[in-house]
Amino acid sequence: MSIMTLDPVERMLDAAENGITLIKNRDILHYTYMPDTILHRDSEQEQVTQSLIPILKHSRPSNLLVYGKPGTGKTLVVKKILSKIQSRVEKSKFPIKLIYANSKEETTLYGLLVSFGRQLGLNEKELPSTGLAISEVFKRLLKIIDSNQLNAVFVIDEIDYLAHLISKTGKDILYQLTRANERLTQGSLTLVGISNDLTFKERLDPRVLSSLGEEEIVFTNYSVEQIRKILEGRIEQALVKNAIEEAALNLCSAMAGREHGDARRAIDLLRVASEIAEREQKTSINEDHIRMAGQKIEENKEVTSLQSYPLHEKILIIAVMKTSELSTGGIYTAYKTLCKTVRQQELTQRRVTQMLSEIELSGLITGRIIHQGIHGRTKKYKLTISPNTIKETFKDDLTFEDIL
Ligand SMILES: Nc1ncnc2c1ncn2[C@@H]1O[C@H](COP(=O)(O)OP(=O)(O)OP(=O)(O)O)[C@@H](O)[C@H]1O
Ligand SMILES: [Mg+2]
Repeated sequence: MSIMTLDPVERMLDAAENGITLIKNRDILHYTYMPDTILHRDSEQEQVTQSLIPILKHSRPSNLLVYGKPGTGKTLVVKKILSKIQSRVEKSKFPIKLIYANSKEETTLYGLLVSFGRQLGLNEKELPSTGLAISEVFKRLLKIIDSNQLNAVFVIDEIDYLAHLISKTGKDILYQLTRANERLTQGSLTLVGISNDLTFKERLDPRVLSSLGEEEIVFTNYSVEQIRKILEGRIEQALVKNAIEEAALNLCSAMAGREHGDARRAIDLLRVASEIAEREQKTSINEDHIRMAGQKIEENKEVTSLQSYPLHEKILIIAVMKTSELSTGGIYTAYKTLCKTVRQQELTQRRVTQMLSEIELSGLITGRIIHQGIHGRTKKYKLTISPNTIKETFKDDLTFEDIL
């Protein structure tokens, strides 16, 4: 072999084969990985288990609502308990079905119900993936529960998204779901809803809330120290010995613990930082790597959010970028000019004002009210993200060629 391989691909492959490795098991840093031990969550595990225990005694548990900020271990804890109960059930052949679906991963209410149906054993013929009325899908789910005398538990993760799907179709399905048990004669149905949106409850119909929230369990926020311990567990399994400096671990815990102790964020930071350090062929992860990881994650979020906007929102964001803190009227003028350049029919000022508020909610721009004495008040907007991120994200889109 030559002493120096100049081909960039060969060089990288060489480095990967012969260079420094920090990550020994990447899967453990993936968000879907389920750790064997769950730290700091004994009381929550006990409460959720307690609430589901009646099912082992062939009676119906209460509906349950599980709450807590993002990354506080809700999905992890509930899934672990489901799988533990399920494995006992399989041994004893109880007619029990514990099934799980995540509303955020389904695009329609129909899809979510079909996912439950499949887990109950209904095939495409018995429950087609499209085409039935929602009420019919629902009827078939209840029928199989009843005819098999099943005690079923439906776990609906990120149930706030379901509420969202429902508000689009205007159906009263959440109410029907929570009351489904009353329509069963042989079997039973319990709902477990999981949500990280603390305002979700306030938006629910009181009738739905009273039955869905028969029991409630709140997951508290992790402290910085607890996050650190969770990270240590992952580090031991995922990274080689001494792969992270003490200061870097502290910083990582502090950054993830800053707002509300988000274990997912902590693990993401660790994963990205270890990839950066490995790419740089450093022998350990330092504080700079953690900071860079934080920046990269933030940028990725911004890019995804920018890409998800329709055309006119994108033009409007470019208008805000170009005007640097102008009032709504000023931004509208700039937007109209941009529309001309890219040959798009402009939308009304009213619509554009509304769009600005929506974009503000996503955090990409920020507005502040300026009082102008007798002229009343106006709102001025500016970007919160770097103009470079916008240019980089939109640069391959030919539509924006002449305005970036
Ligand atoms: N106590 C813990 N011990 C070990 N790992 C944990 C613990 N709590 C959370 N994690 C890990 O942190 C990540 C986020 O946890 P989880 O998905 O359960 O959060 P969540 O509360 O469901 O968040 P969200 O509301 O955003 O869905 C997962 O990778 C999980 O394995
Ligand atoms: Mg979750």
